[in-house]
Amino acid sequence: MRSKQLDLATYDTDKIKHYYLEVYDPVFAPWADKDVKLLEIGIHRGGSLKLWRDYFPRASITGIDLKLPDGFMPGERIQLFQGSQSDTRFLSEVAGKIAPDGFDIIIDDASHIGELSKTTFWHLFDHHLKPGGLYAIEDWGTGYFDDFPDGKKFDPKPSILDPFPCHSHGMVGFVKELIDEQAAGSIMLGRKEEFRLSKFESLLVTQGVVFVRKVMPILTAWPNPVPAGKGPGKTTVTWNSVDGKIYVSVNGREEILFAGSPRGSQDADWIEAGSHHEFRLYTSDHKALLAKVVVTRATSVHR
Ligand SMILES: C[S@@+](CC[C@H](N)C(=O)[O-])C[C@H]1O[C@@H](n2cnc3c(N)ncnc32)[C@H](O)[C@@H]1O
Repeated sequence: MRSKQLDLATYDTDKIKHYYLEVYDPVFAPWADKDVKLLEIGIHRGGSLKLWRDYFPRASITGIDLKLPDGFMPGERIQLFQGSQSDTRFLSEVAGKIAPDGFDIIIDDASHIGELSKTTFWHLFDHHLKPGGLYAIEDWGTGYFDDFPDGKKFDPKPSILDPFPCHSHGMVGFVKELIDEQAAGSIMLGRKEEFRLSKFESLLVTQGVVFVRKVMPILTAWPNPVPAGKGPGKTTVTWNSVDGKIYVSVNGREEILFAGSPRGSQDADWIEAGSHHEFRLYTSDHKALLAKVVVTRATSVHR
């Protein structure tokens, strides 16, 4: 694990005394040597930014805080921005400068106030986290603390109206809302609105950190190229998205709707040799392209 290769005593961050690296290590392992863009909200004295810089030797590290630390020298691969986690315009400005294609990893270690963290989460998750990216929310247990502005000691009164006693203060209430998003596919069943799946690939709740992984849209076509033969050929297009639709453009002509559901599998049995069939998975509002695949047809049978 990467943290075992570092001299942890040299980093001024409470992530170490809280044993958070034991939680982060297995989750971050696939990213450790990648060229990632990481954003942490909540800098304090800057110790965690230095930790992430060394933990991810090829990463660019961005920190945001209401107040920047005095005398902190960001140095190579670290950039700082001053502003509030709930100022969505400011967050978008930072993302536009540093990660126009989105961050790979976002860590919220700032106010630990439910409403603020929720605003930050949905803005950054929806607009500035890459598909397949990871969002970590630290110290969500503050929702159980009486001395926290929006926390309260765990003492739920069972109610005849509630199937289970429920504690929904501050960060805990926010995390429980994330469970509802993970369940979107079940919640939508039988509803009148257009069906959609969860925006989350997974939700991992640990002692101190909650991890949300963003769905990675999938679009494939098989076989591709379509084997040569008489008459038009057939490929099967398979896709999976939150609320996408598939369009196809043949030889650069205007797109036509191929499939209107967010996930599925459908044959295209009109694939012609010498033509370029581009299948495009868009968000259902047709504004953002999520994935595309070009299907062609082989022109001769190889022996
Ligand atoms: C727990 S400390 C961060 C610790 C740091 N990540 C580390 O591991 O060393 C929380 C930081 O969040 C900042 N903060 C609090 N509320 C904020 C807000 N609304 N927007 C941005 N930063 C905020 C505080 O100024 C403080 O520096």
